[in-house]
Amino acid sequence: MIKQLQQQVEEQVAALNWSMEPQGLYQPIEYVLSLGGKRIRPVLTLLACELFGGDKSQAMPAALAVEVFHNFTLLHDDVMDRADTRRGMPTVHKKWNDNTAILSGDAMLIKAYQLLQQAPLDKQPALFGLFSQTAVEVCEGQQYDVDFENDLTVCIPQYLEMIRLKTAVLLAAALKMGAIIGGASEQDAQALYNYGINLGLAFQLRDDYLDSFGDAAVFGKKIGGDICCNKKTFLMLTALQKANKEQRDQLEKWMDCNNESCFEQKVASVLAIYKDLQVDVRCEEAIQQYFEKSVGSLENIQLPDNKKDILVNFANKLMGRNK
Ligand code: IPE
Ligand code: IPE
Ligand code: MG
Ligand code: MG
Ligand code: MG
Repeated sequence: MIKQLQQQVEEQVAALNWSMEPQGLYQPIEYVLSLGGKRIRPVLTLLACELFGGDKSQAMPAALAVEVFHNFTLLHDDVMDRADTRRGMPTVHKKWNDNTAILSGDAMLIKAYQLLQQAPLDKQPALFGLFSQTAVEVCEGQQYDVDFENDLTVCIPQYLEMIRLKTAVLLAAALKMGAIIGGASEQDAQALYNYGINLGLAFQLRDDYLDSFGDAAVFGKKIGGDICCNKKTFLMLTALQKANKEQRDQLEKWMDCNNESCFEQKVASVLAIYKDLQVDVRCEEAIQQYFEKSVGSLENIQLPDNKKDILVNFANKLMGRNK
């Protein structure tokens, strides 16, 4: 069922027309959307709509809006994170330049709103309210993420709030939008949102894990990108907590080193400390914890067990993902 939804999203994304002038604005959009990606968020929108008995074709414009919005955040995120590779290919700012990533990204944000205007009219006030609130929260999360690069006092609760904002709210909103279109009660839509928040926290924890311990060929992003940017990931914060004096000095020394010529050594050295301190194990435990919380949120939804199982299985697969 998920595979089928994924395929439908893929077809509809491919059917979006970007053959317009000026090409300098639209070609990068076509490019990033054609590189694939897991399409998790739009699938969640369609799935939520169907679970509540709605017609998924009614949810497709909202699903596409969420995916185009997500891809817009990636264009800007890759500039902010100085990332050269995504989905196994050069990022937009690398293939073109920063201005292109900024402006094509802006156009995508606006296109996302235009797609949402095709959602069922009676649902639009709720959808636009949720979408806008989510969009501004993603900006807040991204600002914390960047602020934290230069902050050694960040604690795990601050990290969790940062990833709730930058990542989890969009997964949650994708689900809630589908639920709204499918005609769910406010209580069910909210419970599904809470499932999405916990799923999103686990999802970003897994992303952090893969950024350090993944296989670049599968993950599609450069391994160690977070380490190079001094990101306060769950891994780094746990390492700082568990480190002895010598290890802490090492970590701080490497965070002071922002010269690209030393990045290879920086990544290797920090990864060695991560391994020594077994922060990878702690991270996997945290992922499991939020997976269980997400499943727990389903208790408050009025849906038959076989429908809830689809959401449990979806979360389970996402936790074990390698890309
Ligand atoms: C990447 O999202 C950004 C994060 C919030 C971690 P995805 O991992 O969903 O990226 P794609 O769309 O599948 O490439
Ligand atoms: C991304 O977090 C969150 C948003 C894009 C809003 P990351 O910076 O960890 O995402 P990736 O790893 O670049 O995909
Ligand atoms: Mg990034
Ligand atoms: Mg980022
Ligand atoms: Mg990441």
